[in-house]
Amino acid sequence: MAKILCTGIATLDIINEVACYPDEDDEIRILAQEKRRGGNATNTAVVLSQLGHQCFWAGTLVNESDRQTILSDLEYYQINYDNCQFLEHGKIPTSYITLSQDTGSRTISHYRDLPEYTFDAFKKINLHSFDWFHFEGRNIEQTQQMIHWCKQHCPDTPISVEIEKPRDLIVKLFKFADIMLFSKQYALSRAATSVKDFCQRLSAQYPDKTISCAWGSSGAGASFKQQYYWQTALKIKTVDTLAAGDVFNAGMIDQQLRQSHLKKCLEFACQLAGKKCTQKGIADLSAK
Ligand code: FRU
Repeated sequence: MAKILCTGIATLDIINEVACYPDEDDEIRILAQEKRRGGNATNTAVVLSQLGHQCFWAGTLVNESDRQTILSDLEYYQINYDNCQFLEHGKIPTSYITLSQDTGSRTISHYRDLPEYTFDAFKKINLHSFDWFHFEGRNIEQTQQMIHWCKQHCPDTPISVEIEKPRDLIVKLFKFADIMLFSKQYALSRAATSVKDFCQRLSAQYPDKTISCAWGSSGAGASFKQQYYWQTALKIKTVDTLAAGDVFNAGMIDQQLRQSHLKKCLEFACQLAGKKCTQKGIADLSAK
């Protein structure tokens, strides 16, 4: 079991299940509605906790009524949130999600009115007891300082960074990352013609870093020292793709911690993400 610090966000996800995705100006019925905790860093932490690791979350929380949904879920998965910043004003970031029964796609409209986690708060964490640091690729300027701080104070502790959205200056987070977990969305924004093209390009630039890139329902690719690997996704009936990328990232981190070969890391992460897509939510993923 490893001690893992995940830095990023927790959200309130309001998931509206519909028969199929509506047209603009349509009026449709919601067939089922659920409210759950979401957010990339906390989703990844929840899966890592199911895989037997001891997880800690660093992020911001606000004192409002939806906070309990977040805290109850974190407590259920024994995720420590002592290092969070507790703010008095703002709103828990809220995602209004349209989940299509037809395709399993999830369309997210995200509302945010909460300050991001600060480097000043991060500096107070005793980093020495951790085996792994994972960062969500957001809040670039502050996150860059946090990553640098980790490298200065714990140079031997691996750092993974999730690069999902093509945000301005996100490349600043690459420098001290050991493992970069890219999304298809990001790769396409960089004019990648295929996952192989993207991984090979990145690996040529950063040969000593592990690069992975999830490619939706086809599978995922990864490179290290310019060696490229591919894993085809499970053939499944897709029910819900919400957080599949966060689950994939947890699978990669878990296997890297277990020092598995990169091909095995990909295989495991694809299986886990595939399993997630056959069910709603991210509970019970470790049970085979
Ligand atoms: C899934 C997710 C949701 C959240 C949204 C935030 O990856 O973390 O749980 O609402 O993305 O971008």
